[in-house]
Amino acid sequence: MYAFAPDSSLSKPELYDDLASAARGLVAGEPDPVANMANVAALVWQYVDRLNWAGFYRVVDGELVLGPFQGKPACIRIPFGQGVCGAAAASGGVQLVPDVHAFPGHIACDAASRSELVVPVLRDGKVIAVIDLDSPEPARFDADDAAGVVKLAGAIAAAI
Ligand code: SME
Repeated sequence: MYAFAPDSSLSKPELYDDLASAARGLVAGEPDPVANMANVAALVWQYVDRLNWAGFYRVVDGELVLGPFQGKPACIRIPFGQGVCGAAAASGGVQLVPDVHAFPGHIACDAASRSELVVPVLRDGKVIAVIDLDSPEPARFDADDAAGVVKLAGAIAAAI
């Protein structure tokens, strides 16, 4: 059993540092990418509040395919360049979207989502997956969340 739990007195950067090191510990020594993504999705769900979806899309044969996640069932395949996830995968850049309704081509998997943060996971300079966080709150994510999830992506890139 893993007893990782966020400390509510932590600043956001501290919380994400803690999350990244907990994730590093969870994936250490485990070669199965599905098991590792599943545990990391569960860890994000536990650490990061005010989310309605958290998980992975993996790059498979040139498109994004749903990976382990927490939240409601979601769309399975997303072409590069489509939606927020596809934009992150195509550009290799973080997508911080304060209002998903204002994002051209946003894919509404859960109608409750109002803001979204998508961070590419890079290995050897190539996008191998994206981490997608959705919130029912408008403008839920800021630059600290983006930097924190970038750190998380770096911590687990070799293990997924
Ligand atoms: N909203 C995403 C699709 C994935 S779901 O949010 C889980 C997008 O526009 O790419």
